Amino acid sequence: MIDLFKDVSEFCNFEIAEAHKVPIAIIGAGGIVDGAHLPAYKIAGVEVVGIFDVDQAKAKDVAGRHRIPKVYSSLEELLADPRSIIVDIAVPASLQPAIFYQVAAAKKHILAQKPMATTVADGVKMAQAVADNGIIAAVNHQLRFEEGMAAAYRMVELGWVGKVTNVTIEVNLVTPWEMWPWAKDLERLEIMLHSIHYHDVIRWFLGEPNTVFCVAGRTHGQYPVGETRTISTYAYDEGVTALVHANHINRGGDNRAEFRIDGDLGSIRGTLGLLYDYPVGRVDTVEVNSQVVPTDGWTPYPVTTRWFPDAFRGTIGSVMRAIAIGTPLRSSVAETVGTLRLVEALYQSMDSGLSVKLGNQ
Ligand SMILES: NC(=O)c1ccc[n+]([C@@H]2O[C@H](COP(=O)([O-])OP(=O)(O)OC[C@H]3O[C@@H](n4cnc5c(N)ncnc54)[C@H](O)[C@@H]3O)[C@@H](O)[C@H]2O)c1
Repeated sequence: MIDLFKDVSEFCNFEIAEAHKVPIAIIGAGGIVDGAHLPAYKIAGVEVVGIFDVDQAKAKDVAGRHRIPKVYSSLEELLADPRSIIVDIAVPASLQPAIFYQVAAAKKHILAQKPMATTVADGVKMAQAVADNGIIAAVNHQLRFEEGMAAAYRMVELGWVGKVTNVTIEVNLVTPWEMWPWAKDLERLEIMLHSIHYHDVIRWFLGEPNTVFCVAGRTHGQYPVGETRTISTYAYDEGVTALVHANHINRGGDNRAEFRIDGDLGSIRGTLGLLYDYPVGRVDTVEVNSQVVPTDGWTPYPVTTRWFPDAFRGTIGSVMRAIAIGTPLRSSVAETVGTLRLVEALYQSMDSGLSVKLGNQ
């Protein structure tokens, strides 16, 4: 069984080769940088030369605790520092495009937080800025690098479940929305900020759907204004389907976060450990039951790392590998404009009550 999983575990090895490592600077000293980016960079041995946040006290606090040598007093000062090769941006999505254009114009390579923007039009302009400035730029869709999900992806690629007929992701959570005061009044909340991860990985697994349908809910007493439950379905050719059901106001006290991939020759099922007690969580699980390889029923793949912070090594490492040896990015700005298109289609469906066609038909 250990031999069987060798290829899968190599695909899930997100260590960054010493020769590929380059220094980075960070824009934004918020919760995700403090709690996931910087711990991941410490594990990976990535050098952070400086950080900028409009909230200078926050930047100083984060820099002090993570031993970052420089707090920039302006974006211009950060961009003028020749030591940083990659700029890692992690600010709320509505503010990100304007910063992104400036960083691109300074010819720094970029890792942008998800969602990269709140509109498809901005995403397209950002992809154009990447091309115009000849830089490498990825979006931090790090669920594509989360060990359980990445292992499942590789098992599918190896043909262990045959042709995939359905991907389902279901989460029922108590999400602490109070952690993001800027998100309280967002009309577009759940898919834009959270389920975008699931919709992005379904695109990664299955490509663009023909049509999508989405309904959304809110519940009395919830903190944010936007939708906190979404149910999205996808239709592909030949009866292939996908489903995302996400609820963030679970009053039953039984958090769960599960995914399942069914194929015509087997199935993969797993859990996203992070979400059982966000942002602490626990290790993921992933199991495979295959008619192609000798799994003898449901067989666990031994996941040893976590979505937070470990998967963040994957996204920054992919940018470093692309710079060093030209390896294609797994979640480039250009490719993940498709995720913004999908998100837009889901909101159109939610607003209209109708299913929405995407580009393939
Ligand atoms: N899994 C994930 O990838 C994940 C998880 C959480 C958050 N996020 C995303 O990361 C981004 C930041 O989230 P967060 O939880 O850290 O939010 P946060 O509110 O904790 O931090 C945002 C920070 O950005 C700073 N900021 C705002 N405008 C700025 C500007 N013009 N220049 C420099 N700094 C500026 C703020 O002062 C604040 O410190 C959001 O887009 C969010 O959706 C991603």
